[in-house]
Order: sequence, then C-alpha cells, then structure tokens
Amino acid sequence: MTRTLVIIPTYNERESLPRQLEAVHAAAPDVDVLVVDDGSPDGTGDWAEARSRDDARVHVLRRTAKNGLGAAYLAGFAWGLDRAYDLLCEMDADGSHRGADLPALLARASSADLVIGSRWVPGGEVVNWPRHRLLLSTGANTYVRLALGLGVHDATAGFRVYRADMLRRLALDDVESQGYCFQVDMAWRVVRAGGTVVEVPITFVEREVGTSKMSGAIIREALLKVTAWGVAHRVHQLAELLPGRSRSAQRD
Ligand code: GDD
Ligand code: MN
Repeated sequence: MTRTLVIIPTYNERESLPRQLEAVHAAAPDVDVLVVDDGSPDGTGDWAEARSRDDARVHVLRRTAKNGLGAAYLAGFAWGLDRAYDLLCEMDADGSHRGADLPALLARASSADLVIGSRWVPGGEVVNWPRHRLLLSTGANTYVRLALGLGVHDATAGFRVYRADMLRRLALDDVESQGYCFQVDMAWRVVRAGGTVVEVPITFVEREVGTSKMSGAIIREALLKVTAWGVAHRVHQLAELLPGRSRSAQRD
C-alpha cells in the first residue's frame, strides 16, 4: 500500500486549519497529515496538537520561529522521509487547495516524480483573487519560463505531490529559498535531476478567513533568486556552445 503524507505549513491559521483537515480526510481518508507550525501566536499549534491526540492520522511539528515556507517544508520532508512515506504532498492550510482535488493529484503520482496542482493549464481556475494577485502569479510564471526555460505553467504553485524517491535524489540541504520561490526552486531541481513533472488542473479558491503571508520581501527574494538562477543557467548553456569547452564543462 502507498503511504501518503500531506504536509501543511501554518502560521496563524487557527480558523482555517480545522476545515482544511476535514476537507483532506473527507477526500482521502487514508492519508496522514503533518502540520508544520512556526509558533503561531493565535494558537494554531496548540489546536493541532490537541487534534493529533484524537486522530492518529494527524501529526504536528512545532517550530519556534516563523522561518518561512521553505524551511517549514524542508523540515516536513525530513520528517516524512525518516518515516518512509512513499508520497509527500504540499498543501496550504487556508482552503485555497481543495481536498476534493487531492485524489486526482495522487492518482497521477504513479507516473510522475512531481505532480503540480496547476491554476494555469486548461481546466485550471482561480476564484476570488484580486487583480494584483492574478497579475503577480501570471507575471512570476512568465518570468520563470523566460529566465529558466522551465516548461511548467504554474511553477509557484503550492499544491503538489512528490514521490519520496525523487526527494531523496535531490540535495535538499542546499536549498536556501525561504519564501514562495521555494516552489520554483524545487520544480527546477526536479527537472534538472531528470524527474518527470505533470500538471493537473485545480480550482484555487482565495481564503475566506485569516490573511496571506505574501510580502514585499517574499517577492524580492523570488525576483533576485530566479534572476540569479537564470543567469547561471544561461552562462552554462553558452559555455556548452563554445568550441573546446564541452569537455572541460563536463569535468567541472
Ligand atoms: N510554517 C509556516 N511558516 N507556514 C507558512 C509560512 C511560514 O513562514 N508562511 C506561509 N505559511 C503557510 C500559511 O499559513 C498557509 O498555510 C500557506 O503557507 C500559504 O500561505 P498564504 O499566505 O496563504 O499564501 P498565498 O495564498 O498568499 O499564496 C499562494 O500562492 C503562492 C504563489 O502562487 C500559495 O498557494 C503559495 O503556496 C504559492 O506559492
Ligand atoms: Mn493562501
């Protein structure tokens, strides 16, 4: 039997998390959930811990400081890989990623190393996002495509299923991305490692309670990092083209 862990990072999601857990288990009763809480002042971690005592499928990793989405997921991946889960999923706590879409993503994981729940493929949808968020997401994805040549339509998506074998092949200790560019970073690593990526259309629904943690710092980090990766990638491509460089490039 395939063992599946859904990792849900939380910061101040006390109101949203109960509904998210319910929606996940209504759609996929056999999956385990790991809530990775960064010391939410609103008591999310306490609630999750109490819940984990009543429901053996629910686990909690409590961290002391808000260290970003990337660090939370890396801690969650390490926890899941240690416990020999076969599939590791990412999902937001705020209802944006619908439990109802999870089975379709899980079904595709038998034939892909990374399955992305995508807003930007035919059939994908975004409900209730303000215009500036739509522009930010489409703009970011266009930039990622141009800078990295990455053939993924929704590279910043946070609804995903990774095969554990794929994660074991990646050098996760090297991942420095803190904010939402963590998602781009990981997709890029999977592609460079020769992994297969498929996108499954989802309906992304803007949260009704709580607030987004998106910030100027998160946008700046993404812009700087994607630009740096893009420049390094293009320099590498150029070096490969130069006569007499291909063998030394291989030695590097
Ligand atoms: N533990 C932890 N630590 N959790 C965090 C942190 C953090 O520093 N920052 C955010 N989260 C959690 C939130 O509590 C939520 O469960 C999830 O990460 C997503 O955060 P939101 O703040 O709701 O993100 P969003 O709706 O603005 O952004 C969405 O779109 C991004 C761009 O496409 C998400 O789907 C992101 O995953 C996606 O990258
Ligand atoms: Mn959200």
